[in-house]
Amino acid sequence: MKILVVGSGGREHAIIKALKKNPQAETIYALPGNGGMAGDAVCVDIAATDLDGIVQFAVEQKIDYAVVTPDDPLVLGCVDRLNEAGIPCFGPNANAALIEGSKAFAKELMHKYGIPTAACEIFTNLADALSYLDTAPLPAVIKADGLALGKGVIIAATRQEAKDAVRDMMENAKFGASGKTVVIEEFLTGPEVSVLAFTDGKTLKPMVSSMDHKRIGDGDTGLNTGGMGAIAPNPYYTEEIARRCMDEIFLPTMAAMNAEGRTFRGCLYFGLMLTPDGPKVIEYNCRFGDPETQAVLPLLKSDLLTVMQAVTQERLAQVSVEFSKEYSCCVVTASQGYPTAYQKGFPITMTEEAAAHTYVAGAKLADGRLVTAGGRVTGTTAVAGTLDDAIKEAYRLAEGVQFQNAYRRSDIGQRGLAACK
Ligand code: AMP
Ligand code: GLY
Repeated sequence: MKILVVGSGGREHAIIKALKKNPQAETIYALPGNGGMAGDAVCVDIAATDLDGIVQFAVEQKIDYAVVTPDDPLVLGCVDRLNEAGIPCFGPNANAALIEGSKAFAKELMHKYGIPTAACEIFTNLADALSYLDTAPLPAVIKADGLALGKGVIIAATRQEAKDAVRDMMENAKFGASGKTVVIEEFLTGPEVSVLAFTDGKTLKPMVSSMDHKRIGDGDTGLNTGGMGAIAPNPYYTEEIARRCMDEIFLPTMAAMNAEGRTFRGCLYFGLMLTPDGPKVIEYNCRFGDPETQAVLPLLKSDLLTVMQAVTQERLAQVSVEFSKEYSCCVVTASQGYPTAYQKGFPITMTEEAAAHTYVAGAKLADGRLVTAGGRVTGTTAVAGTLDDAIKEAYRLAEGVQFQNAYRRSDIGQRGLAACK
């Protein structure tokens, strides 16, 4: 089989490595992929948002199956376009990807179908949003409606900060069209859990739970990032909470999307907060999370390609989705300065052992050498019988990834470890 994977991050590298385990996967193309994946996939320089280019390539190469994982192409309708060209795909159609593409849509869906989430008001008019903020409870959570590279959420402690954030989005177009509509939400508290789930609209099979580490600094301090590491499973996510989430959130979301004529087929990501009033949805993503995928897929015992194809063919009920009972930890190595300004172009070296456990994101080949080309450069994952051992091993392996100005958090997994005690 010829398989095409759209995307270029550590998440896509983890997916490609998992797909490769199936001997049917003869050739895997990554569009555009990155230089660090070159050993695992044929990288083709077509941008993930170039839908015409992707479809043309897929048709010319007679691609048998496509996997679309980043949010932008999904929301733009990449899967619809590939399907129209006769190519079966893993990933939701655009009308279902809206669950991530519009936070206002997601909030209205949850309200309509009684799915627990933070209370909110939705504004399309700046003056109304500003006057609401005169009396809104603080802190206020301000969210741009559309995609904003994970940066469209501001937690404002004061009315001034909240109003500035709303002005930035609605008046100064800080996130372009994504901020024309804003959602102002109640501030929730509690541990956060990520649950990725396979669903074909009829059946939903959650993957092992995970915990992202979004802040740049140790102790969860500093700016938000795309994610500096992850552990799986998430120790806060007990069996009883899992049952509640299935009954109160996961299955009702699948049913709600069906009822709206927006059947979701793909990986649905539930960003949850375990509040004193029970689990609530913080966000939905229409795709695998990153870096969560880099911690979750190494624990998958079932064959990923088989599961994905079952989702596409709406026969997920017939395949098993099994995870190992072990623990995993993924430690991201980033460029010093990320998530703001950082230098690129430093040569990357990896020991053979580290490379075998590392997914590459922000890197490219220049004159035959792998050099840094992005903020988050690599994710190194270890699996072990205990969380403690997985963390220690992930850090030991990550030491084998070296480049100038490399930065890692030193406490990935420690909050999870404390929760186990
Ligand atoms: P999101 O991009 O929606 O995942 O939001 C980024 C981060 O903001 C989340 O991981 C949470 O830590 C935080 N956040 C989002 N919504 C809320 C909320 N209603 N209350 C408290 N924290 C929130
Ligand atoms: N790790 C959060 C996300 O993928 O959006």
